[in-house]
Amino acid sequence: MQSDLSTFYSILEPEFLSDINSWHGHIPFAFELISQLKPKRFVELGTHKGDSYLAFCQAVAHFQSETKCFSVDTWEGDEHAGTAEDLYGENIYEVLSAYHDERYQSFSTLMRMKFDEALPHFEDGSIDLLHIDGLHTYEAVKHDFDTWLPKMSDRGVVLFHDTVVRYGNFGVWKLWEELTNQYPGFELTHSYGLGVLAVGTNPPEWISQACALPPVQQEAWKRKVEFYGNAILSHSFKKQSQYFQDLLDQCYGQIHKLEHELVELQDKLEEKSKKIMVAQMMIARKDKRLLSLNVQLEHAGKLFTDTQVHVRDQECHISDLTDQLSIQN
Ligand SMILES: C[S@@+](CC[C@H](N)C(=O)[O-])C[C@H]1O[C@@H](n2cnc3c(N)ncnc32)[C@H](O)[C@@H]1O
Repeated sequence: MQSDLSTFYSILEPEFLSDINSWHGHIPFAFELISQLKPKRFVELGTHKGDSYLAFCQAVAHFQSETKCFSVDTWEGDEHAGTAEDLYGENIYEVLSAYHDERYQSFSTLMRMKFDEALPHFEDGSIDLLHIDGLHTYEAVKHDFDTWLPKMSDRGVVLFHDTVVRYGNFGVWKLWEELTNQYPGFELTHSYGLGVLAVGTNPPEWISQACALPPVQQEAWKRKVEFYGNAILSHSFKKQSQYFQDLLDQCYGQIHKLEHELVELQDKLEEKSKKIMVAQMMIARKDKRLLSLNVQLEHAGKLFTDTQVHVRDQECHISDLTDQLSIQN
């Protein structure tokens, strides 16, 4: 046992970090926990994209702890994580299970169901490590704790995420206050808080030592845990900012392409405008010629009418002369 309780010598680089970073600060602690406790059975209630669960799985594989892992989630979201209709997204389970099955299927199972429906799949006293991270109202988290408590082994440890969140109807903090009066435990206050509670009659030595540390030493140890957590967080922020930078670069590339297309279209438009102008000039010239032909036609028509009148007059005159001639004869 290390005097300060943290080895972190074998700190791993997390292989999986999604865009949701609320748990990222606890990943080194999850690695440490698996390497120290080597639980026989680990269950997580609430996995979402898998940031916490996949960290536990990575540690199980790395430290060869021979832990059987189970993740329970409907992957339909909830009031706090979002629902399929809004932020939660439809294909979260498909993405997670593809990643998970390729790496961890030999010792880990994703159980797509409600927490209560998963209960009968576990015998009483069979779980060494339980992570409760479902809906965070007081009622929901208390229900999850009460219903899963009988499943915990005598060395059982329960983790609660979001113990320091006090906004909205988050109520883990309240349950945490109640439970720490009944069981030994400690709380890591960074990354929304992680409560670590020893609920068994025979807690792991490492947990007992951490609980029993004098306050100043315990605080120093927690700051060290937080320091490693922050390293992961800054790694995930860097990854995220790289993601946004790539997205921005893509947008700039798209804008550049569109600008180029716009210039091409403007050239084409200019060419077409010129053609239209030439055609309009020809039409105007033809209109002018048509107008003058109309004037000529009108004039010819008038001349024709005048001639007809004149012919008719001449015919009358001839007819008169013919009449006179016939009278004289
Ligand atoms: C806060 S998220 C889990 C976060 C995850 N541990 C991480 O590291 O990112 C809560 C998850 O619990 C699930 N959930 C909430 N209540 C549930 C219940 N009663 N049964 C099954 N899943 C539930 C939601 O679908 C959601 O994916």
